[in-house]
Amino acid sequence: MIFRQMFEPVSGTYSYLLASRRGGEALIIDPVLEKVDRYLQLLQELELNLVKAADTHLHADHITGLGALRDRTHCITVMGEQSNVDVVSMRVADGDQLEIEGLALDVIYTPGHTDDSYSFLYGDRVFTGDTLLIRGTGRTDFQNGDPRAQYHSLFGRLLKLPDETLVYPAHDYKGDTVSTIREERAYNPRLQVKSANEYVDLMSNLNLTNPKMMDVAVPANTHQGLSQEQITRRGWAYSAEEAKALIGKPDIALIDLREKRERERHGKIPGALHLPYHDLQENISASGVLRTLTAAGKSLLFYCAFGERSAMAVQAAQDAGINAARHIEGGINAWKETGGSLDSGSGSPAHALLLA
Ligand SMILES: [Fe+2]
Repeated sequence: MIFRQMFEPVSGTYSYLLASRRGGEALIIDPVLEKVDRYLQLLQELELNLVKAADTHLHADHITGLGALRDRTHCITVMGEQSNVDVVSMRVADGDQLEIEGLALDVIYTPGHTDDSYSFLYGDRVFTGDTLLIRGTGRTDFQNGDPRAQYHSLFGRLLKLPDETLVYPAHDYKGDTVSTIREERAYNPRLQVKSANEYVDLMSNLNLTNPKMMDVAVPANTHQGLSQEQITRRGWAYSAEEAKALIGKPDIALIDLREKRERERHGKIPGALHLPYHDLQENISASGVLRTLTAAGKSLLFYCAFGERSAMAVQAAQDAGINAARHIEGGINAWKETGGSLDSGSGSPAHALLLA
């Protein structure tokens, strides 16, 4: 396994790079905008293909690298379903898994620092964001923070992990890099409380000043979504309302780019083929299934969760010379808002349509 902890000194942020092997797929957790060039260099040096970039929560002290990494690598951006951001490619919830080739991280909802705070557990280590810091915990006095919720996230979730679990936080301001659940339970001064009420009192009397970057970082981090306007201006997008009239037409191949878990959780548009974004390059290659579909006279209509992956897919297909490629702007989220029908099944395999 490849594992790197990377540091951004201005905000004291740790970002983490994970991959199962050299030459394989990579995930970055909590990237910082100023460090994006460094991440890209390291990815290249390790021959890694960045496929996902996730933030543990909406950060107030630095600008996230999510949007820049997506623009430069076409990776999938991931945040929790509570995050108040315009668009990310994929949203996760408690109990989900964050997957790349060879690695699956358990998604644990740990609200309190913010209402969109998540931790990610992988084997012997947990990425705790700002929920659990080394000898500290994330403040709870803004961004819908809630000390009582944080108490339950800490005592009810994170401290229930095995003692030897390594704790990798999103920040440290003292130079520590890693801890364990056992150490934090014993020595973290914030965790020496007897009750939720005591923790609430402690957190409510910290009287902290706001982070220096807050006025810049929060608005910037709220708007990291891929602008789908350019795709629309080129005539490569249908609104969800327009798409309704196209579904079921024999010359339209509706392609669902989401992952299996997303389809199971949120349903799918009837008649869609399931071809995850992950396999897009292969599917638009000369021998790929999407190439075969277009050769058979089908027009491709991509959709995903919010339109971000599908917009990137339209661009990639067009770049590869597949002109009959469009997407549903705003994804299944927009589709649902217009009252579009849903199918809870798991989708037809691509060959079924080819044989039809
Ligand atoms: Fe934070």
